[in-house]
Amino acid sequence: MGERITLSVIKADIGGYVGHSSVHPRLLETAERYLAESKLLIDYRVAHVGDDIDLIMTHKYGVDCPEIHHLAWNVFLQCTEVARELKLYGAGQDLLSDAFSGNVKGMGPGVAEMEFEERKSEPIIVFAADKTEPGAWNFPLYKMFADPFNTIGLVIDPKMHQGFRFEVYDLVKNERVEFSLPEELYDLLVFIGAPGRYCIKSVYSKTTGEIAAVSSTQRLNLMAGRYVGKDDPVCIVRCQSGLPAVGEALEPFANPHLVAGWMRGSHIGPLMPVGLDQAAPTRFDGPPRVVAMGFQLAGGRLVGPQDFFGDVAFDKARQTANEIANYLRSLGPFEPHRLPLEDMEYTTMPEVMAKLKNRFVKVGRQEDLEPATEELGAK
Ligand code: 13P
Ligand code: 13P
Ligand code: MG
Ligand code: MG
Repeated sequence: MGERITLSVIKADIGGYVGHSSVHPRLLETAERYLAESKLLIDYRVAHVGDDIDLIMTHKYGVDCPEIHHLAWNVFLQCTEVARELKLYGAGQDLLSDAFSGNVKGMGPGVAEMEFEERKSEPIIVFAADKTEPGAWNFPLYKMFADPFNTIGLVIDPKMHQGFRFEVYDLVKNERVEFSLPEELYDLLVFIGAPGRYCIKSVYSKTTGEIAAVSSTQRLNLMAGRYVGKDDPVCIVRCQSGLPAVGEALEPFANPHLVAGWMRGSHIGPLMPVGLDQAAPTRFDGPPRVVAMGFQLAGGRLVGPQDFFGDVAFDKARQTANEIANYLRSLGPFEPHRLPLEDMEYTTMPEVMAKLKNRFVKVGRQEDLEPATEELGAK
């Protein structure tokens, strides 16, 4: 059998060009140059979706490796210097601390990593999204690994028919829980239908026990006690031979689902699948976008990427997303386009409330508001 390989995708927003729309080419060059000098990696690619830089790296050191995380952190620091020089928007936005502590998790950057034995042939897809949050993967991961209307392999492939194990994080309580599908499908859906809180972290094959998918789950807006931007997420999916076919992993994106994020991280919008050359959100800082980069691994070397959503087969999905976007925009500041109060990343509510405090008067029947003394004593 093959050797054990770790695939680490670490991403951060180091500064937008222009506004929050894209990444300046000099940042990508800086990241390339820095990674090329590293002796730790087997291979790497630098990509971006919107204003987020993705470092796609293969190595032999396992997940949560301090040296690999440190490498990514240093790349982001180098990029921050360039971003400051060019005065890019929100330079260093995702680097919450100046000191690196051994693991980038919880420090701003998003991380999706998996270690596995490279199969005879190892097709993988790296999904990356901008203007949304990690829960955006719940719907497509559910479709890929649990919905026979999406993934016919669940029905007719003997290596998939047993189903998959889903690991779900509660991002508010910082707890994790596992579900065995298909038996516990209804239980799983109770949670992952609320993607702002419950988030699919990883998926495992029940036939082989092997990891099949992993997502980045850090929810930045709950960290460090201040708004620093939605944590635009990444996700890795292994494909074929007992796992979803490449086309089954791409299929959920043909029907754009609604995700939280978009303008000021405070709106609902369709997740639009786009090619790498269309990965710069514009309208109302969106609509939220997702790219899909396909690779064959060869001894850890990344053969690719294949730009899946650049294909004409996703033209209709883009058109649908634009129609949904048009409709939602017509609602302006009203829910459900604008997120509910508790989910918005920032709001003027406290200030407006303070200003109008004295103008609020109680509503209701007088006797309900001020119970008569004799009534109170009557019981
Ligand atoms: P500022 O313009 O105040 O940074 O906030 C808006 C923003 O950038 C989100 O789009
Ligand atoms: P990012 O999270 O991609 O930086 O976007 C911030 C924003 O507020 C866009 O309007
Ligand atoms: Mg940004
Ligand atoms: Mg972003």
